[in-house]
Amino acid sequence: MTARPMVSPDDLENIDLADPRLHAEFELDEVWRYLRAEKPFYWQTERGSQPGFWVITRHEDAVAVYKDKDHFTTEHGNALGTLLNGGDSAAGSMLAVTDGIRHTQIRNILMKAFSPRMLHDIGESLRITVDGLLADAIENDDCDFAKDVSGNVPLGAICDLLAVPRSDRKYLLSLTAHAWSSDYADAPPEDSWAAKNEILLYFSDLASTRRSSEHNDVISLLANSQIDGENLSDAELMANCYGLMIGGDETGRHAITGSVLALMEHPDQWQALKRGEVDISAAADEVLRWTVPSLHGGRMTTGDVVVNGQQLIKKGDPVSVWIYSANRDEKVFEDPYRFDLNRTPNKHLTFAFGSHFCLGHYLGKLEVEAVLDGLRRMVGGFEQTGKENWIYSTILHGMSSLPVSLKADQGALSKAGTAAAAG
Ligand code: HEM
Repeated sequence: MTARPMVSPDDLENIDLADPRLHAEFELDEVWRYLRAEKPFYWQTERGSQPGFWVITRHEDAVAVYKDKDHFTTEHGNALGTLLNGGDSAAGSMLAVTDGIRHTQIRNILMKAFSPRMLHDIGESLRITVDGLLADAIENDDCDFAKDVSGNVPLGAICDLLAVPRSDRKYLLSLTAHAWSSDYADAPPEDSWAAKNEILLYFSDLASTRRSSEHNDVISLLANSQIDGENLSDAELMANCYGLMIGGDETGRHAITGSVLALMEHPDQWQALKRGEVDISAAADEVLRWTVPSLHGGRMTTGDVVVNGQQLIKKGDPVSVWIYSANRDEKVFEDPYRFDLNRTPNKHLTFAFGSHFCLGHYLGKLEVEAVLDGLRRMVGGFEQTGKENWIYSTILHGMSSLPVSLKADQGALSKAGTAAAAG
């Protein structure tokens, strides 16, 4: 709970909203509040060789951009990092950066694997995993929640979905942790490129073994599905395995770690959760609104467009939609800076909106629910034992380290003791 300095709106012209250091080392709430009220369509001008881009901060404008498939595309990148640096090499093959009919076709294949019915077993094993990780953390007294608990939850679920061999999972975690963010300010960009390439190569090898296999996992589903009588290409197969791993691992980890920090910062909400006064599904939505693991969405305009009758955005302009700000828009959320586990309705944009609405939203929410439920049953209280570390990224938002000490819930301990004695 180390307070980071707040950036003043007066400094808007001097900061760069595409700078990872800004999001790791500073708080921007005042800037977002000002932009929503005064400049809902703000053009950040060039910074050195970096091109300018639109900054959209209101909920209703974010929804309008996400909904408008005719004027906004992801095919030049769906985050500032790629949009401002020449595009995304997976455009046209990876779901998140593909539009039009091909997007619908690939999404329809993947949707089969992400229905609540298909995810039932994964949900069950998630709960067992989370309970085990929490039990270890309680027993060890001190833990780094980000590394010891959150680090092991989403990756396990995705690896189950893709049927990644258990022996490869630690290796993959080490790569995904560096593909889109860094623990340090000065990490060389080559680290992230190398990690991305290694993940792609890994999936290229694994996917080739699943062509014509009888397995019931998502890689086999992709490898053996056909569109207009043709299999997906190797590039599409590899890019979409990578997309699932990247889309679902780090985001989920940050939501989970952020939930613990939020509960420590709001002891009244922790007590309400403990006393069973909150609905777990509503609580998970509030954690997702609050933590915002994906800070913004990026789009390029394919034609001149006026958004919500307000601002003309020109063809070819890069646009960033700030989910963090939309999730705190006072026109949509009553008292948006209050962390309220019983908040309903909760129209957060954490999973975006429209045609690219997160494919893994149900799984992502299941993970947060499993952690909240585990904390409620097993943990009596927690205390932060060291400084948290925020990651360096413009797109992802969360902590790489959160040292905490978890105390056991005495009621749960005595129940476990009675059950063990009985049998
Ligand atoms: C798309 C956030 C979990 C797979 C997205 C988008 C967001 C998002 C904001 C939209 C990107 C855009 O519009 O450009 C999150 C968060 C998660 C989470 C915050 C966890 C808390 C997952 C999981 C998976 C996943 C668990 C899969 C295992 C995807 C995929 C897309 C996507 C494949 C692209 C969908 C499309 O383009 O049609 N996610 N995600 N996500 N997410 Fe997630």
